[in-house]
Amino acid sequence: MSNKALNIGDQFPNFEAQTNVGRIDFYDWMADSWAILFSHPADFTPVCTTELARVAQLIPEFLKRGIKPIALSCDTAESHNAWIEDIKSYAKLASFDYPIIADNKRELALKLNMLDKDELSAEGIPLTCRAVFVIDDKKKLRLSILYPATTGRNFDEILRVIDSLQLTQSKSVATPADWKQGGQCMVLPSVQAVDVPKLFPKGIETIQVPSGKNYLRITAQPQI
Ligand code: BEZ
Repeated sequence: MSNKALNIGDQFPNFEAQTNVGRIDFYDWMADSWAILFSHPADFTPVCTTELARVAQLIPEFLKRGIKPIALSCDTAESHNAWIEDIKSYAKLASFDYPIIADNKRELALKLNMLDKDELSAEGIPLTCRAVFVIDDKKKLRLSILYPATTGRNFDEILRVIDSLQLTQSKSVATPADWKQGGQCMVLPSVQAVDVPKLFPKGIETIQVPSGKNYLRITAQPQI
């Protein structure tokens, strides 16, 4: 029987787990930071190796945004530590500075609904998909993306979404298609015209459309 999938805005469940650097209580490990938890089917696999290497290279970008990365893979802590040597060698890293959860019994993979029934291991067991969970400092789920085991993630895209999450939680804007940090934003449909001067002192531009409705309102990216 599968667990209920988590929705955006749900409290992310706490858990205890073994990692390559010891046992953690997830909430205690997060402390007051945000976290990105991303899962992997197995150690010593090629796509996973490239992903863990990429996140290790992006650590300064995650820390700049107040986010602690943590990976999960369905093997033991001893296996993770041996694999980390390969990842460091592959990515020419002097150190590997975030933990990998040892979910060799697939308990968390089940609890967090991360098993892919269509992709099976050599033994015929469902593989863990490549799940991404972004959890905020209140322990709320803010983003969830599921990729199949055969598709590696784009971590530049994940950072881009995190930038949007952190901007739009405090400013009355939404970010349009392909937005990047510093790009123009859309004024939220819920913002009344009367409130525009106060909320957007630098002004907005309203794009005219055949419907005559004034909903395409553009503004420069507000400072957080
Ligand atoms: C990989 O990481 O390369 C991989 C793992 C499981 C299935 C497919 C690819």
